[in-house]
Amino acid sequence: MSDRLLDVSPPAPTRLTALASRIIDRHARVCVMGLGYVGLPVVEALLEAGFSVLGLDVDPQKVHLVQAGDLTTYHVRPEVFRAGWAEGRLTVSDRADVLDRADVVVICVPTPLSKHRDPDLSYVIQAAQTVADYLHAGQLIVLESTTYPGTTREVLQGALAVRGLQVGQDYAVAFSPERIDPGNPRFGLRNTPKVVGGLTPVCRWLASLFYRQFVERVVEVSSPETAEMTKLLENIFRAINIGLVNELAVVCEKLGIDVWEVIEAASTKPFGFMTFWPGPGLGGHCIPIDPLYLSWRVRSLNTMVRFVDLADAINRQMPAHVAQQMALCLNEHGKAVRGARVLLVGITYKPDVADIRESPANDIARYLLWWGADLAYHDPYVPSWDLDGERIPRLALETPTGPAWQVLADFDLVAVVTDHAWYDYPTLVEYSPSIYDCRDAFRRRGVPSRRPGQIWKLGAPGARPPWAR
Ligand SMILES: NC(=O)c1ccc[n+]([C@@H]2O[C@H](COP(=O)([O-])OP(=O)(O)OC[C@H]3O[C@@H](n4cnc5c(N)ncnc54)[C@H](O)[C@@H]3O)[C@@H](O)[C@H]2O)c1
Repeated sequence: MSDRLLDVSPPAPTRLTALASRIIDRHARVCVMGLGYVGLPVVEALLEAGFSVLGLDVDPQKVHLVQAGDLTTYHVRPEVFRAGWAEGRLTVSDRADVLDRADVVVICVPTPLSKHRDPDLSYVIQAAQTVADYLHAGQLIVLESTTYPGTTREVLQGALAVRGLQVGQDYAVAFSPERIDPGNPRFGLRNTPKVVGGLTPVCRWLASLFYRQFVERVVEVSSPETAEMTKLLENIFRAINIGLVNELAVVCEKLGIDVWEVIEAASTKPFGFMTFWPGPGLGGHCIPIDPLYLSWRVRSLNTMVRFVDLADAINRQMPAHVAQQMALCLNEHGKAVRGARVLLVGITYKPDVADIRESPANDIARYLLWWGADLAYHDPYVPSWDLDGERIPRLALETPTGPAWQVLADFDLVAVVTDHAWYDYPTLVEYSPSIYDCRDAFRRRGVPSRRPGQIWKLGAPGARPPWAR
């Protein structure tokens, strides 16, 4: 991973050549803006590579969290941060003036949707403005937040340009999308190739050199727009394929076929097929949101990305579909939703992570509460759950097995929304009178139901209307 300056091209102007040397010998100070799911792993990787890191977050609580070493939610190793503190290589602050000391700035701020599902670029705009306030010659600025093609040039460089310095001469600007997959045990920041596009060839060269210090493989592309679009393609690809299997799940329910078995069988084809699983809806900060950045961008060009919009429509109705299936399941057992005791098991958006942002559990709960269910939840990773100002009661079970789980017998329906590895699935089957399984959690683990009709499942016969038989 070590690069010698002489090996790289094109030759850079002096200010940036000096920065390149400082990067290689680890004297460059790196400011990471935004200490969240993306920013903290970047801080971790930089510390491990021997850099001095300035962490900057506008949220004082986040700063406090990092200072207190309370990092379990973020899939980073506290010992790396502890070593950073001990060696004086880590500073964390909510004060923007740390940027004065930064040679490299990596921007990892949120890019959510507005209430009307349009891109909310306010965080990027504010971050760009803050960086512009402290911009000085010899700096490299990289945007990592997922966004639509054109953001780096128009928004970031747009803010920096007013400082009167020359991009590619005095300072460098690039886009490099974050590909972190929280909770992935196999691929982390270091062994996931990093795509880099610079505003000029010198910008690309410098950004590429920077990432090569702590990422095994850097893929250079010709422009920031190409890098921005690459990230969108990756997420759109997932959103569309998940939309496809979600639609097939609903179709299979009507056909009386188990979609999970179908996908498992199709996955045995060694070429030309890629496995995606259905689920109760998209979640997290990427797949439900990022494709819509492209939809929005191309609308202004009087065109549309129909695949994105179609997948979004299908994926967005999954929580309602699942809630309806739960209602049918209760009905089958002679219960109305109103007054029924329903327990949601696993409410984060994917297994073994602590993130409930955009989790389909939120919408499923909204439907069930609206229909009058008496709702509770259990999730080993979520100590409390506030939904639209209402606190959902949490079942206090701190070990996956044991007689305390007999409490499941008090519920009319236990719904596995996300199948964390933490759970003991035979225990769930032993004590639950009736189960709705959004993830094929039981069959995949070889846990059979105790009696006919005990387990209903998304994408499988169960709530099949008589006219479809
Ligand atoms: N979470 C993921 O798995 C993931 C994966 C790949 C890409 N991304 C993308 O990375 C970006 C960041 O996502 P995240 O999940 O880390 O978000 P996050 O909400 O976990 O963290 C963002 C942090 O930025 C801070 N912030 C906001 N404005 C700031 C400013 N002006 N200066 C300094 N700090 C500021 C917030 O307080 C917050 O702590 C988004 O664009 C997202 O789409 C996320």
